[in-house]
Amino acid sequence: MSQGIPKEFWDTRFGQDEYVYGTRASRLLHAWADTISANCRTALIPACGEGRDAVFLAQLGLDVTAVDISAEGLAKTQKLAQEKQVNVTTVEADLFQWEWPVATFDLVATMFGHMPHDVRKPLHKFYTQALKPDGLLFLEGFTQDQIDFQKKYNSGGPPDANMLYVADTLADEFENVVPLSMMSGVETLEEGSFHSGPAALIRAVFRKTGNK
Ligand SMILES: C[S@@+](CC[C@H](N)C(=O)[O-])C[C@H]1O[C@@H](n2cnc3c(N)ncnc32)[C@H](O)[C@@H]1O
Repeated sequence: MSQGIPKEFWDTRFGQDEYVYGTRASRLLHAWADTISANCRTALIPACGEGRDAVFLAQLGLDVTAVDISAEGLAKTQKLAQEKQVNVTTVEADLFQWEWPVATFDLVATMFGHMPHDVRKPLHKFYTQALKPDGLLFLEGFTQDQIDFQKKYNSGGPPDANMLYVADTLADEFENVVPLSMMSGVETLEEGSFHSGPAALIRAVFRKTGNK
């Protein structure tokens, strides 16, 4: 059984022509594009949605695998990849059921992949497991302050504090990594109709230490 928001919700959300989170990649990946290009050849995007980050990394020349529970999201990922004339390998899977690769990728990017607090730590273990030693882990999402911004601006994210990040404790949810960058604060999102307006965000980059 899946954990978090069910597949049907995501298939309905993505089953329309509009890219509901936009087609531009996360600002975090844009900001790190030079470092990524210089150091990474392979990337895994769990919960890739409609593919904006996967396609961007493929455009940087990386060999990208994008995983999601939503067939509709993956179809749009492939459509965007075709439009941009790049290849992305898509895998339809529930992240809690998937046979996760081990020490395979130079980069893992989890963008707005909000899950309940209880299941996050085991999931985060899979993210680091999938990285090669020294691989980079990118994370972007909403903090619990977003509950107020949802009420005021309807700017996105699950309306459940248990699924949102806490800046002070985010690093505790990962093992075998060192933080390279961690920023949280308020920014105006312009990422399609579901990420639009002032929002409480966290952006973090970690480097994997060791080989677990
Ligand atoms: C808020 S969207 C973010 C999509 C994308 N990362 C982005 O930022 O545009 C959350 C994504 O998580 C996916 N998802 C939710 N639960 C999942 C699960 N158990 N396994 C795989 N994907 C899941 C959804 O299908 C959806 O694409």
